[in-house]
Amino acid sequence: MRGALTAVFIGFLAQAAMADPLPAPVTDADFPSFPMEQILLGRDLFFDPILSGNRNIACATCHHPTLGTSDGMSLSIGEGGLGLGSRRIASEGNRPHARIPRNAPALFNIGAREFTVMFHDGRVERSESAMFGIRMPEGRTLEKPMPSALAAQAMLPILSADEMSGQAGENDVASAVDAGRIHGSDGAWAILAARIAAIPAYRDRFAAQGVQDLHITDIAQALAAFITTEFRATDSPFDRYLRDGTPLLPAQAAGMALFYGKARCSTCHSGPFQTDHGFHAIGMPQFGPGKNTDSAYARYADLGRGKVTGVPRISTAFARLRCAMSR
Ligand code: HEC
Ligand code: HEC
Repeated sequence: MRGALTAVFIGFLAQAAMADPLPAPVTDADFPSFPMEQILLGRDLFFDPILSGNRNIACATCHHPTLGTSDGMSLSIGEGGLGLGSRRIASEGNRPHARIPRNAPALFNIGAREFTVMFHDGRVERSESAMFGIRMPEGRTLEKPMPSALAAQAMLPILSADEMSGQAGENDVASAVDAGRIHGSDGAWAILAARIAAIPAYRDRFAAQGVQDLHITDIAQALAAFITTEFRATDSPFDRYLRDGTPLLPAQAAGMALFYGKARCSTCHSGPFQTDHGFHAIGMPQFGPGKNTDSAYARYADLGRGKVTGVPRISTAFARLRCAMSR
C-alpha cells in the first residue's frame, strides 16, 4: 500500500516538474482595432476577384471561412481553377501551370500584434533595418509605410502568377509583373489600385475614409483590417477556462494537462497563441512542386527558411510554427 502511494506521489512530482505554466488569457489589447467601414471594405475586397489579373480568383478562394480560412486542400489550385475547396478543378482553356508550392494556412488570429512574421518561411518580417520597417522579398520593397507585416503580406499574392495575377500576356497586371514592373505609376500595384479606383462604389467608400489617391497599400490595409477582426478566434472553451475558470470537460482537461505537461507540445506551442513564432524542422517532407526556379541544379527544391536567410541549415529548413491552432 505504501509502495503504491509512493509511486503515485513520485508520478505526481514528475508531472508537476514537467508542466509548463498555462498562458495568460488573450485580451482585446492583443489586437489592433479598426474603423468598421475599413473592415467592411476589406471584407468586400477579400471576396472580390477584381484583385486578380484575370478577375477569376479572390483571397477567399484559398482562405474561405467555410473551410477554416484555408481551402481544404494540401496544395491550392490557384488562378485558372474553377470551384471551391476539394471540388476545385483546373479549367479547360486556362489551365493553372502548377499547384501552389505550399499549403494555404488558416488565418485565425494572425492579426494579433505579436504576429510580426508572415509565410511558412518568414519572407515578410518586421525589421528595424528594412525599408519602412518591414522586410519584403526581393524586388517587392514597400512604396509606403505599412502598419503591420500582415498588411504588407496582402500586397504579394496579387503579384503571383500562379496565385492571382495570371500568366504574361493574359492581362495588364500579369504582363507588368512578368516585365519586372511592380513599383511606380506603370507598375502592377498601380494598375490594380487604378482598377479598384475606377469602381465608384469602392472609390467613394475609400474617399469617405479620407483616402483620395487610392494606393495599393490602402487596399492591403483594408484587407488586413478585415482578416484581423473577422478571423479573430478567442472564445474557445480553453479561452474561457483561462479567462474566468469556466470548467473544461474531463477529456479537454486531460488534453490540456498532456499538452502543457508530458506531451511537451508547449515547448514549441507556447504563449497566448500557442506559438513561439520560431522556425522548427518538423520532419515534414516536401510534397509541392518547389520554389527554386532560378536554380539550375535544384530547380524543384523548396529550401524553405534557408532560401530567405541564405543559411542552408536543416534546422531552419522548413515550417514556421505559424499561428494559433485553429480553436
Ligand atoms: C491560390 C491560393 C491563394 C490565394 C488566392 C491567396 N492566398 Fe494567401 N496563402 C496561400 C498560401 C499557399 C500561403 C502560404 C505561402 C507560403 O508560406 O509560402 C498563403 C499565405 C497567406 C498569409 C500568411 C499566413 C501565415 O501564417 O504566415 C496571409 C496573411 C494570406 N495568405 C492572406 C491572403 C490574402 C489577403 C490574399 C488576397 C490578396 C491571399 N492570401 C490570396 C494561398 C493563397
Ligand atoms: C518542435 C516543435 C513542436 C512541437 C514539440 C510540437 N509542435 Fe505542433 N507544430 C510545430 C510546427 C513547426 C507546426 C507547423 C505550423 C505550420 O507551418 O503550419 C506545427 C503544427 C501543429 C498543428 C497544426 C496547427 C494549425 O494551425 O494548422 C497542430 C494541431 C499541432 N502542431 C499540434 C501539436 C501537438 C498536439 C503537439 C504535442 C503532442 C505538438 N504540436 C508539438 C511544431 C511543434
